[in-house]
Amino acid sequence: MAVAATALAAPRGALRSLMLHAWRCSAAASSSAWAEDLLHRMDQRDTWDRFYSEKRATGPRHFDWFFSYREVSGLLLSTLQGLSSGETRILDVGCGTSALGLGLYRDSPHQLHISCLDFSPLALDSLSQLIRESPPPRHPLSQLCCHLADATDLGATFESSSFHLVLDKGTCDTLLRCPQGPGRAKQLVTECLRVLKPQGKLLQFSDEDPDARVPFLEQAGGANVTVTEIGHINGICYYVYMLGQRPLDLADGREQSLEGKGLKTGPACLP
Ligand SMILES: C[S@@+](CC[C@H](N)C(=O)[O-])C[C@H]1O[C@@H](n2cnc3c(N)ncnc32)[C@H](O)[C@@H]1O
Repeated sequence: MAVAATALAAPRGALRSLMLHAWRCSAAASSSAWAEDLLHRMDQRDTWDRFYSEKRATGPRHFDWFFSYREVSGLLLSTLQGLSSGETRILDVGCGTSALGLGLYRDSPHQLHISCLDFSPLALDSLSQLIRESPPPRHPLSQLCCHLADATDLGATFESSSFHLVLDKGTCDTLLRCPQGPGRAKQLVTECLRVLKPQGKLLQFSDEDPDARVPFLEQAGGANVTVTEIGHINGICYYVYMLGQRPLDLADGREQSLEGKGLKTGPACLP
């Protein structure tokens, strides 16, 4: 079956080339054999700590997988319109040091509450520094928070039904392509859907072909999965997958949302 074959395949395509290129460009990257070894451990926290520690050696800078915030800023800003009449709550899962959350915080005329989440403390250290150095948000009441947590198990961090929009750029891809990954990738999608508000949307940015990703997302519990081609960037075709909760899960989410206020932990927030 296409899904199983893709899920179990060795890292490939954009993610694989990006990873090798990123590591080779790192100050301490010593051999491509080492980088190849790490490619099979992209679901492990220490792999990412090592990656971000090497990136940090040249100073805190954004590093964006696949493509930069600018490539999708128009799409994201237009998606935000109509999601909420008041504050719009956004979660970026596996944010790394990407400019996605910070770019939206800076550019959106709507009031946003953005949660950037990663399990690598080194990534969040660098991102926090970039956030502190960033210009103020366009909307004076917008907030941006960093959360250290495992995106496949968000129960201790967020209530169900907390977010209007969940963003995933490259995180599901890294889990899908590891030997132990496919099961965790499914947990990731399940958790992303659980923390969505009714009518909320999960957006996944990926280079994976729709023939494989759409059935995977449906099996992981997603409803109304749509796919839009973003275009070719550096010769690779990227897609955005958009999905929501199934009606049954929506009913559960509504019940739980009456109990909680969305946030369970006290994160570091700006401003
Ligand atoms: C391919 S990178 C993508 C980073 C960022 N989204 C971007 O677009 O540049 C995958 C990120 O997911 C994080 N990650 C992987 N598994 C995770 C998990 N179970 N929980 C939280 N973060 C995770 C890694 O630390 C890494 O920052």
